Amino acid sequence: MDHDPQFQKSRRGFLGGLGATAAGLSLAQAGAARAQAKPDPAITEIQDWNRYLGDGVAANPYGKPSKFEKGVVRRDVEWLTASRESSVNFTPLHALDGIITPNGLCFERHHGGSPEIDPSKHRLMINGLVDKPLVFTMDDLKRFPGRVNKVFFLECAANGGMEWKGAQLNGCQFTHGMVHNVMYTGLPLKVLLDEAGVKTNGKWVMPEGADSSAMTRSIPIEKAMQDCLVVWGMNGEALRQEQGYPLRIVVPGWEGNMWVKWLRRLEVGDQPWHHREETSKYTDLLADGRSRRFTWIMDAKSVVTSPSPQAPLKHKGPNVLSGLAWSGRGTIRRVDVTIDGGKNWQTARIDGPVLPMSLTRFYVDFNWDGREMLIQSRAMDDTGYVQPTKDELRKVRGLNSIYHNNGIQTWLVRSNGETENVEIS
Ligand code: MTE
Ligand code: CO
Repeated sequence: MDHDPQFQKSRRGFLGGLGATAAGLSLAQAGAARAQAKPDPAITEIQDWNRYLGDGVAANPYGKPSKFEKGVVRRDVEWLTASRESSVNFTPLHALDGIITPNGLCFERHHGGSPEIDPSKHRLMINGLVDKPLVFTMDDLKRFPGRVNKVFFLECAANGGMEWKGAQLNGCQFTHGMVHNVMYTGLPLKVLLDEAGVKTNGKWVMPEGADSSAMTRSIPIEKAMQDCLVVWGMNGEALRQEQGYPLRIVVPGWEGNMWVKWLRRLEVGDQPWHHREETSKYTDLLADGRSRRFTWIMDAKSVVTSPSPQAPLKHKGPNVLSGLAWSGRGTIRRVDVTIDGGKNWQTARIDGPVLPMSLTRFYVDFNWDGREMLIQSRAMDDTGYVQPTKDELRKVRGLNSIYHNNGIQTWLVRSNGETENVEIS
């Protein structure tokens, strides 16, 4: 955008806004001009942090964010919380940047609470239709050849489910925050299955959790062999307890429910098990009362994270619009953004790594004159799939669905900068 004449103009406006008298001043000169105009105690007074020694190195053996960032936390929604053990909280997407979700901010979804597992007592069993049933300790897994590192998003199928019938929750943390994006360390599931030797009639794999919900799902053998992982690391350190310490399965691009945490067993079978989580739950109920049998893949989706209800616009003039896009079918190719409710679209600037089945960051540097805006983003992946509107989804799926809502989100930015979750048709 730097060579865009529109932007050059707005950059001069930016300096003007800081109190500079002539266009083309450096930021430092502009700052000096502001200091002359009105004494700013942040400049004229020596602050305590400049005067006294800081904290010693041992003060914080495991580092924490600055206390001034204390609002950047996972949050829950009271009416969605039946009990603390069977619950969900949400990633604060509006306050994050880049593509990696910090470990302490990854949303949590537990069906039977988060168990504290002693890794020395944890085992992974592989049984069923295999030549050689196996049991691994954590140490066995960590010295098994073939370790890999891969970045993937995990999105709960229920992300945005509350919005199916219309705009509900005021903040992208709540409308879109059942997603996180992590670099995992572990082993391809294939190397473990090959070690056990899958029999020719072994067509499905069932991961089972060691938590009190004993979560189970059916994964087709092709997917298990293609790109699933068994992982113990996230973002360079051990999995957090909430994310399945000491072991979880990663099912790239597929609904989060299949990513069984606290993984203790993999059973190989000849057909799907049709357990609770793949029949009564995580199933899409259509308008005519029939259900889709399985909906595994998370289709392309995007959201503008800033501005958004929790990150309103504070300044006229230059602003940076930012957002996230992802697709369970592959790589994000393009994201288009509108600020006038869909009359005009422009292609956003994608920045940072663009990886398959990973969150992808986009920006639009824009100039805000204080006008009301209707902001939307629309993702396109490398299969050519284009993110649909919510009305397009409802036409196909009716109003009974909860899961797999990847419709286009609209934010209304008012002239005072306040931002609201709305829907336009
Ligand atoms: N695995 C076990 N063992 N128990 C669970 O309750 N919840 C599932 C899945 N794996 C769950 C589980 C659901 S519905 C989702 S969306 C993801 O874990 C959430 O993963 P996270 O807590 O790391 O965000
Ligand atoms: Co889920």
